[in-house]
Amino acid sequence: MLDVSGLSVSYGRHLALENAAMTVAEGEIVVVLGSNGAGKSTLIKAITGLVAPHPGARIDLDGRDLGRLPAHRIVEAGIALVPEGGTCSARSRSRRTSRWAPSCPAPAPRPTRASSARSRSSPSSSSA
Ligand SMILES: Nc1ncnc2c1ncn2[C@@H]1O[C@H](COP(=O)(O)OP(=O)(O)O)[C@@H](O)[C@H]1O
Ligand SMILES: [Mg+2]
Repeated sequence: MLDVSGLSVSYGRHLALENAAMTVAEGEIVVVLGSNGAGKSTLIKAITGLVAPHPGARIDLDGRDLGRLPAHRIVEAGIALVPEGGTCSARSRSRRTSRWAPSCPAPAPRPTRASSARSRSSPSSSSA
């Protein structure tokens, strides 16, 4: 059971989330709905340790206080944030990445010596 209460987060002087609470029981699927800017991402980022909540927030997973743990320890405890698409850098676009993250396109095959020689000598690539 994930049990969150009294969760407030500010970005500088901007209070983005005030006194939020939620519980997620084992096996339960919970959807967080809200308008743009309502604080959905901030809620999830606070639970996963990516932003720091105000003092007094409670984030417990099966009775264990996650509020004081760094993000990588929270992942080890069983909570992970999987952001939607748009997170592939050019370097991560390996064939292995594209297998588990279908939104990351596989890299284009490398040109063979023969094909790169052909494109160098084709009339369309000449600058004359
Ligand atoms: N990094 C940030 N710096 C300053 N303000 C932010 C930042 N991220 C979000 N906000 C502000 O916090 C509020 C909540 O944003 P957010 O959690 O992204 O909302 P949602 O995911 O529901 O669209 C909004 O007013 C937004 O402009
Ligand atoms: Mg969001």
